[in-house]
Amino acid sequence: MKKTGIINGPNLNLTGKREPEIYGKNSFDELLIELKSRFELQTEIFYFQTNIEGELINKIQEWGFYFDGIVLNAGAYSHTSIAIADAVKSIKSPVIGVHLSNIYNRENERHTDLLLGACKGNISGLGFAGYKLAIEYIISL
Ligand code: DQA
Repeated sequence: MKKTGIINGPNLNLTGKREPEIYGKNSFDELLIELKSRFELQTEIFYFQTNIEGELINKIQEWGFYFDGIVLNAGAYSHTSIAIADAVKSIKSPVIGVHLSNIYNRENERHTDLLLGACKGNISGLGFAGYKLAIEYIISL
């Protein structure tokens, strides 16, 4: 059975409550239940969320040498963290970067994603569907 990790960064624990007009009205708990049941025959799904940059790096390192793929939404750290980009470059598992919102439609400071070059690919602006598509891609590998 494949292993897929979903790693969410800062403030994504508030999805559903936080700026719902941008990030949607549903919580991650609801999405996770749906993803686990939808993909139960193809992959195990592990979930980790933290608001702390170093914990994101620790989890990327922990999962990144044996998982089949990682879906990573590093939240605002995507725009600032060379350290997370370095972690993504350091591991073996392919990482698919995901943003719920379309960062290119938003404020200028969100237009740069430092993780883009380190990720296998990136999905921005498709809401929860971005996570589903990223997992489908990992399953297809
Ligand atoms: C985000 C976009 C980031 O700019 C923002 O800081 C987030 C969420 C997204 O999923 O759209 O926290 O990564």
